[in-house]
Amino acid sequence: MKHVLFATSNRHKLQEAEIVFSEYGLNVEQWDVKRLEVQSESLEEIARISLAWLMREANPRCPFFVEDAGLFIEALNGFPGPYSSYVFSKIGNEGVLKLMDGVDNRRAVFVSVVAFTDGKEMLVFKGQASGFISHAVKGERGFGFDPIFIPEEGDGRSFAELDVREKNKLSHRARALRKLAEWLTSSKII
Ligand code: IMP
Repeated sequence: MKHVLFATSNRHKLQEAEIVFSEYGLNVEQWDVKRLEVQSESLEEIARISLAWLMREANPRCPFFVEDAGLFIEALNGFPGPYSSYVFSKIGNEGVLKLMDGVDNRRAVFVSVVAFTDGKEMLVFKGQASGFISHAVKGERGFGFDPIFIPEEGDGRSFAELDVREKNKLSHRARALRKLAEWLTSSKII
């Protein structure tokens, strides 16, 4: 079976990737390594720099990939976007709901960027999920902003009310990972 490493310490992201990859007969293995997290306005730049840093500093087994995601809230001009993990750790879902207090435009987009390398070249794949910020925290599953994000293409449940397979039908990360999986199955790299 074709085998790829996913440099992440997030077991939820790993589980989402395992399910997507299994649809393609691919195997993903966790590489729980400390990554360089630079601040940048661009998720793609963050992912590219993180991948390049691991290639240089961490003596990786290839092929491997990293993934960076962010929640872009329209009424907040795209905030927290690339600063999502910092914002989540400081103010959490309740803090974001407070920022959205009295705001009618609840539109938001989750964006995921996957940066992959076979040890020679770097490839980047993106996925998006459009939706809305809920008025209250809903659901127990998933991680991060899942309890306040209602995907537009869903049935009104938040990401945290979906099981992983349901979330994978709609999520930014599954969409980016499927592009990588499709590329891997059609290339001779692994
Ligand atoms: P990361 O830097 O890619 O791990 O993601 C930044 C932050 O965005 C994380 O700390 C999470 O709070 C949030 N995030 C990323 N992806 C998701 C998701 O699929 N669901 C909910 N929150 C997410």
